[in-house]
Amino acid sequence: MWLRCTSRRLLTSLRVLKQKRLNASSWSNTVAAVVPEAAGFLGVTDHATLQDFSLTHNDSFWRAMANNRLTWISTFSTVQDCDLRRGKVKWFVGGKLNVSVNCLDRHVLTCPDRVALIWEKDEPGSQVKVTYRELLEMTCRLGNLLRRRGVKKGDCVTIYMPPCPLAVASMLACARIGAAHNVVFAGFSSDALAERIRDANSSTVITVNQGVRGGKMVNLKKTVDAAVDTCPNVRQVFVAMRTETPVAMNSRDVAMEEEMMHEDVICEPAVMDSEDVLFMLYTSGSTGKPKGLVHTQAGYLLYASLTHKYVFDYHDGDVFGCVADIGWITGHSYCVYGPLANGGTTVLFESTPIYPNPGRYWEMVERLQINQFYGAPTAIRLLLKYGDQWVHKYDRSSLKTLGSVGEPINTEAWEWYHKVVGEGRCPIVDTWWQTETGGICIAPRPSDPDAEIVPGMAMRPFFGIQPVLLDNELTSKSASGALCLAQSWPGMARTIHNNHQRFIETYCLPFPGYFFTGDGANRSEEGYYQITGRLDDVINVSGHRIGTAEIEDVVNHCSAVAESAVIGYAHDIKGQGVYAFVVLKKEADITEEELRQQLKDRVSKSIAKYACPDFIQVAPRLPKTRSGKIMRRVLRKVVEKDLNGLGDLSTLDDPSAVQEIIQGHKELC
Ligand code: WT7
Repeated sequence: MWLRCTSRRLLTSLRVLKQKRLNASSWSNTVAAVVPEAAGFLGVTDHATLQDFSLTHNDSFWRAMANNRLTWISTFSTVQDCDLRRGKVKWFVGGKLNVSVNCLDRHVLTCPDRVALIWEKDEPGSQVKVTYRELLEMTCRLGNLLRRRGVKKGDCVTIYMPPCPLAVASMLACARIGAAHNVVFAGFSSDALAERIRDANSSTVITVNQGVRGGKMVNLKKTVDAAVDTCPNVRQVFVAMRTETPVAMNSRDVAMEEEMMHEDVICEPAVMDSEDVLFMLYTSGSTGKPKGLVHTQAGYLLYASLTHKYVFDYHDGDVFGCVADIGWITGHSYCVYGPLANGGTTVLFESTPIYPNPGRYWEMVERLQINQFYGAPTAIRLLLKYGDQWVHKYDRSSLKTLGSVGEPINTEAWEWYHKVVGEGRCPIVDTWWQTETGGICIAPRPSDPDAEIVPGMAMRPFFGIQPVLLDNELTSKSASGALCLAQSWPGMARTIHNNHQRFIETYCLPFPGYFFTGDGANRSEEGYYQITGRLDDVINVSGHRIGTAEIEDVVNHCSAVAESAVIGYAHDIKGQGVYAFVVLKKEADITEEELRQQLKDRVSKSIAKYACPDFIQVAPRLPKTRSGKIMRRVLRKVVEKDLNGLGDLSTLDDPSAVQEIIQGHKELC
């Protein structure tokens, strides 16, 4: 796999690239000027000592950050009360605050007319700007509407909307009245949406009539209708109008904008405890149904705000362009909560990297004067193939920092991003984190101003983060192993909704006393971290996380299928693609073509389009151990065409199954 090859090559050659920061105004040499919150820390003079201090004086560090960066209704009594062995995580205990006040009201006091959101609509040039004053007004009206319609503190509202100001206002309106939100990526199917609505036990859903993406209309309200029909607890669906196209309204539907106009523009913020739930967000694990990771108020917001400021070197007046969808954690932390907590101007990108042409990102950078651009390697790899001319066409001199997220960035894409997009003058921050971590945990910045950046490496732990590579930690300074985090940090998820036991089993029990991330990593002699990919059966398709077991579950439901095994394989653009091995029932009467179509339809109906297999190999049987376990390792090697690496086959029940698989693979590819 290219992931593994790249990592080896990188570690042996370590092509170090010194990147001078050309923007002299951004960092100066004293740490107090760079990180003003650290001004009172004795003996802290540079980034390295500040990083040490954040670990050795963890409570002092986070106390100062929390007092400096958040506006409290009443302050906390204890900085942290955590025990990773038992899955107990509490930060800023006893503190009271309101997240929407931190994201809106306090900025309206100082700069009401500053632009909070730039909605970069699908059609280039049709952007809409929303000031802090306007966003507060929208949020308050919506908060009042939700309250009047019976949404209470502690309820969970499901939001199924593409990136747009009303989606952000919906999230913040929930925060204002103390309801949790559950944003479901608007690319998910009605079945997937229904499963999440039911698990979250939402009785209120917010959506739009239609989405617009890449010049096409998507009937989101229809998907919601189909989902809600199977969710008896849903009593109301708020429908905003993204397009002029009218939609059929049922008795449970509420015309959102119309009703909002009747509401007051002042909405009393709920007094929330630091550890009350702010939101849940579903993500895939290696087994079982998607899990609703729970994030709470103060710690999450502080961590999103601090990482946004220091990883990207964000300053007042900058335009921050994160092109992720709000349906993922990246959108939550770096389109919404981080930038807004910091009084920033943040872009909501509704379109695709290639609409109307592959110059879209860079044309947008020029038009909106974006200073920090944050995107995914899969899009960079795609654009790279279209050639440099699409980049050169536009002026990118506003850019100061380029970020990458979601999957490892291979060297070719890294170099292109750095040289062609950033003209060699913008630091590339390859940021490693997860839905579970709430915010960025490992990234090249912050660091001392002239510190080197190594291509394709996330490199340095953020303040308060202590990575450990378990299994062979003690062997030498350099190491590789399971990436764990040795102490809690404010942004980490607190639990899995309705299933704390699963939280403990997944993250706390594999390496007792540590938070286990599910990823593998290497550490170089210099102490830099490089993520090598998942250690479990989770794969990453175009930066979208999906458990192979979830796909198998859908495939196995097909009447012609006896059993299946789904694996990820290296894909040029998507990072990983989906490869399914399928064994048909003896009596199955179906052509391979029909089977392919059926499986594709089923997976996109039950999960989402991105989870559809690219390859379906019909096999007479699967290689299994004598105890009946499918040998996925063997299947992976066959697909990687690494027949010498098949490894120990002695536990195989019947070795000829492997030959059949190899033959079938040759015929298919
Ligand atoms: C998984 C988390 C991070 C927010 C978006 C995805 C992979 C993420 C990197 C990176 C290598 C990365 C990991 C992680 N991943 N960023 N910079 N380098 N791998 O959040 O959907 O929760 O997925 O994405 O495997 O565990 P997510």
